[in-house]
Amino acid sequence: MIITIDGPAGSGKSTTARKLAARLGIPYLDTGAMYRVVTLAALEDGADLRDEAALTALARDADYQLDPGPTHIRVTLCGRDVTEEIRSMRVNDHTRYIAGSPGVRAILIEKQREIGRQLGSMVTEGRDQGTAVFPDADVKFFLDAELEKRAERRLHDLQADGEDVTLEQVLANLNERDRTDSERPVAPLAVPEDAIRIDTSTLSISQVLNAIVTHLRQHGLVGQA
Ligand code: C5P
Repeated sequence: MIITIDGPAGSGKSTTARKLAARLGIPYLDTGAMYRVVTLAALEDGADLRDEAALTALARDADYQLDPGPTHIRVTLCGRDVTEEIRSMRVNDHTRYIAGSPGVRAILIEKQREIGRQLGSMVTEGRDQGTAVFPDADVKFFLDAELEKRAERRLHDLQADGEDVTLEQVLANLNERDRTDSERPVAPLAVPEDAIRIDTSTLSISQVLNAIVTHLRQHGLVGQA
């Protein structure tokens, strides 16, 4: 069973996807982590972020690994654990170059489908999972929330990681990422036609999770337990 959860940054989709996967006992795939680790690889390589061929080669050849499990996702670059480093503002500020590269997207989308084939069942989250990557997914969700609310959540996460960042900086970064994610010609952020939409602005993670599990039960996709 493939369950997709798409939505913008700060909509709650990562935490929801992780908890849903744990509840169902299946892996979850954080596709944002893939764009993030390629971004970090490009920054560390000093790559020209506008050089489509160089970015595509990096996405294909760089030594990065994702280990998707039911409760965590561990990311390594050249054998180094970069699970936390890929969440930094430095990476946030540059993902749009990587996410906007058609060559990178083609490679990462193929990797995501391959992971889906190997795992059989998973919860996968991103911007294009229910549209471009898994159009035939068993069930699709789209989470969204007001911009201010999403910025407050991201600020909280970044500050918890020890980043010296202001609400204004986070708002500016989210605005820019929303714009470039929605406007890019390849696999833009979009609501899948057959997705269940959830506005998480005033909901806790457990309320979002309950809404999703209720839907899955009603459609016979999970047991009653
Ligand atoms: O979800 P997260 O904020 O970790 O994603 C990081 C960046 O990767 C996003 O800003 C977006 O540009 C890109 N992304 C994407 N397609 C996905 C997942 C993430 O373009 N499926």
